[in-house]
Amino acid sequence: MSLLKATLESAADGILAVDLSRRIVLFNRRFAEIFLIPDEVLARRGDAYALDFVRDIMRDPDGFRSRIEAIYARPDATSFDVFELKDGRLIECYSLPQYLARAVVGRVWSHRDVTARVRAERQRDRLLLEERRARAEAEEAVRLRDEFVAIASHELRTPLTSLQLVVQGLERWLAPGMDVERARSALLRCKRQIRRLAALVDGLLDVSCIQAGGLDLKLSEVDLREVIRDAAAQVADQLAQEGIELIVQAERPVVGRWDGDRLERVVTSLLANAIKFGGGRPIQIALASDGRIARLSMTDHGIGMDQETQSKLFERFGRGVSVRHYGGLGLGLYIARTAVEAHGGRMYVESELGQGATFTVELPLPQAAPESP
Ligand SMILES: Nc1ncnc2c1ncn2[C@@H]1O[C@H](COP(=O)(O)OP(=O)(O)OP(=O)(O)O)[C@@H](O)[C@H]1O
Ligand SMILES: [Mg+2]
Repeated sequence: MSLLKATLESAADGILAVDLSRRIVLFNRRFAEIFLIPDEVLARRGDAYALDFVRDIMRDPDGFRSRIEAIYARPDATSFDVFELKDGRLIECYSLPQYLARAVVGRVWSHRDVTARVRAERQRDRLLLEERRARAEAEEAVRLRDEFVAIASHELRTPLTSLQLVVQGLERWLAPGMDVERARSALLRCKRQIRRLAALVDGLLDVSCIQAGGLDLKLSEVDLREVIRDAAAQVADQLAQEGIELIVQAERPVVGRWDGDRLERVVTSLLANAIKFGGGRPIQIALASDGRIARLSMTDHGIGMDQETQSKLFERFGRGVSVRHYGGLGLGLYIARTAVEAHGGRMYVESELGQGATFTVELPLPQAAPESP
């Protein structure tokens, strides 16, 4: 008997033997330690007393209790569970029926504190998951970059081809004698393609600038009405050529300390989109201010976009249309939003598929210092 007791006490697991009437027949010190059960509770020899006692230290007392009852309900079954305690420990729990002359006479439970092992496993799983996610992100970045290089080369190639054709045409017409009108219209087309090339290259430069640490703002006193006027002038011949009406509502000057050139590019970018996606219908620009915030919004009545597209179009390379149908690098709005945010403002879109779109730029206005008495 004492050899058996000594053996039990040397076991690494907490051991408990219970008979069929659920009386505690045997247990070792380790068992009492794991569940913090005082001697007087175990001395009562009833399994129910021990279970009542551990109720309070279990993370899920009801789940624990019903699981134990389910195991006792099947005397010849084995069980394996991991229970969590309120103090964060995890206890692995095996139980096996105890046989005497082939008849089940009770059940022996062994318990082991596996907190450290399970924590290490969970930590390893977490690291593995993070590593997998990082790799997927890196692969996605490489894919986006490859796709971007392909689109960018195509976009840069298109105006170059047009330029080449116009210049070749000019050469041909110049030989038999100059037709001034034809040459003038050819030069206009040249200018437009050069502007497109310059805008593309500017966009690429802006993105590398943002990537390298952010846009530099050159602040001065700027009237947003002039910004709109200058941006509109840039696309005037394109609007005329495509017969698109531009309606500007800007009654009063809206003046702040901003980077005028940057804001002009924001408006040009929005205008370019409204022209590209606006289905040839009129475009409206409205400028307003409530003394605290300047609000510029641009509305078109074109293809519009669904919610999913709206959620990603301000991201880098975020495009909601296929390159084949509409040219573009998917950078315009990303650069515009970055520029507006650099001014402490924000930019958002309201749209529905097929219902046009309204893009709004909000910029904080300088607050007048309170007048001194
Ligand atoms: N006015 C609009 N109506 C409908 N969809 C729009 C409009 N403006 C932008 N989008 C959608 O948002 C996407 C991102 O616009 P963004 O200006 O950033 O890129 P892009 O016009 O495709 O290319 P880029 O401006 O770089 O030449 C577009 O591809 C398009 O799907
Ligand atoms: Mg664009």
